[in-house]
Amino acid sequence: MVLWSLVLGALLVVIVGYVCLPGILRQRRPQEPPLDKGTVPWLGHAIAFRRNTFEFLKCMWTKHGDVFTVQLGGQYFTFVMDPLSFGPILKDAKRKLDFSQYARGLVLKVFGYRAINGNNQMIHSASTKHLMGNGLEDLNKVMLDSLSLIMLGPKGRSLDASCWREDGLFHFCYDILFKAGYLSLFGYTKDKEQDLLQAEELFTQFRKFDLLFPRFVYSLLGPREWLEVGRLQHLFYKMLSVKHNQEKDGISNWICYMLRFLREQGAAPDMQDKFNFVMLWASQGNTGPTSFWALFFLLKHPEAMRAVREEATQVLGKARLEAGQSFPFQLSALQCTPVLDSVMEETLRLRAAPALFRVVHEDYILKMASGKEYRLRHGDIVGLFPYLSVHMDPDIHPEPTAFKYNRFLNPNGTRKVDFHKAGKKIHHYTMPWGSGVSICPGRFLALSEIKLFVLLMVTYFDIELVDPDTPMPPVDPQRWGFGTIQPTHDVRFRYRLQPTE
Ligand code: HEM
Repeated sequence: MVLWSLVLGALLVVIVGYVCLPGILRQRRPQEPPLDKGTVPWLGHAIAFRRNTFEFLKCMWTKHGDVFTVQLGGQYFTFVMDPLSFGPILKDAKRKLDFSQYARGLVLKVFGYRAINGNNQMIHSASTKHLMGNGLEDLNKVMLDSLSLIMLGPKGRSLDASCWREDGLFHFCYDILFKAGYLSLFGYTKDKEQDLLQAEELFTQFRKFDLLFPRFVYSLLGPREWLEVGRLQHLFYKMLSVKHNQEKDGISNWICYMLRFLREQGAAPDMQDKFNFVMLWASQGNTGPTSFWALFFLLKHPEAMRAVREEATQVLGKARLEAGQSFPFQLSALQCTPVLDSVMEETLRLRAAPALFRVVHEDYILKMASGKEYRLRHGDIVGLFPYLSVHMDPDIHPEPTAFKYNRFLNPNGTRKVDFHKAGKKIHHYTMPWGSGVSICPGRFLALSEIKLFVLLMVTYFDIELVDPDTPMPPVDPQRWGFGTIQPTHDVRFRYRLQPTE
């Protein structure tokens, strides 16, 4: 017994030593950024980082300056906080900083999808063909039909539609955007009523997964939550399976293109199902929350709401929606809305907070705009968190926490693109979509669908907060780094279709 305890104890010491020793031994070498390993072996600062990425990085930035390396769960991350120095990291012509290695690990862990070679290029070429230009125009039509179906029902406007209804604004926006986005991209069957029910069920399950997602990524789930995540993953594989797809019409060209590519590369059907889950997540996880913030900011800023409504009347004319009708909407109007465009940019500046990562493939010299050079080690990860270093920089965006609907408008009403830092024009003045090789390929579709939804809401509906003095809900600190952040709680609002005279 004593012998066994000794053997086990020794084994434990060897394992802990093996895992922690590289961290304990690691020292800052000449020309490397300041190194902060934290006090806990191996874990380093992982707990503080995961609890609140924004506050943690703010604190490290104050302590170490524009570049620093921190230990997070046995891995070393170098954060670069000076946006004037982002260019070489994002362009990285010599391909020493790799996005796909990091992304591959993440999608395998979270969605069970083992990325094939050329995955990233395949997604981006499918998106250039089908989520931009003519492909986007076709999808906008489908999206308008989907929004009409979901917001008005299969028979168009009903007679009792003008009575007030109450809901949580976050739930309302996420539910509608999710269902419209899902049906438009993943297709319909012949039975629309059944499709709506299936989309509703999918959204209920999606929200369960969504709530567990940040802690799942960081491996912080309890045993029951692990089981729940496993159940949800299998449910999504089934509900999105390519076998089911065969019964559908109108699957978007975007999805069809990518699935065809996977088949041609010999990906097994179960991998294709998992790929669909990744695409559902990427395409639906941010649009609903962003629409919520856009509408909420408008409801809290009447001057912004007036300006958007005025613009909507100018481009769409006086709106009327008769019984049995679906929305009569000129999609070309989406190209003529500088005020709403500015509202969208401002909403994303305030609420989109992705963290961008690149794995250092070979030892790398990071050249800062100041002329200073840092040596980065092979195997470490470079991280950018533009929300803190760009979106909230008062030099680039005065009063950065305030919502200013016309921040991105020139005095003559055109789009403002001139922003400065330390007297220099800055290229990356907001980065809600990431940048470089990993820039969101769905950004044009995302903007179109959110704008379409907001325009429908302000044009055809009366909307108001149940309590006009309701304060801004706090943001959930676990969401920093994962795209659009979410509120900790919902906000009650009421809405009705404007009565016909
Ligand atoms: C407001 C809505 C959206 C936001 C804020 C957003 C933001 C982002 C961000 C920050 C990334 C990752 C960048 C990185 O890791 O460097 C990303 C990736 C991605 N997004 Fe979006 N996105 C939105 C909507 C959409 C939509 C509607 C689609 C598709 C229809 C989409 C498809 C994708 C895909 C496929 C990727 C992965 C790209 C890759 O692996 O290279 N996104 N998005």
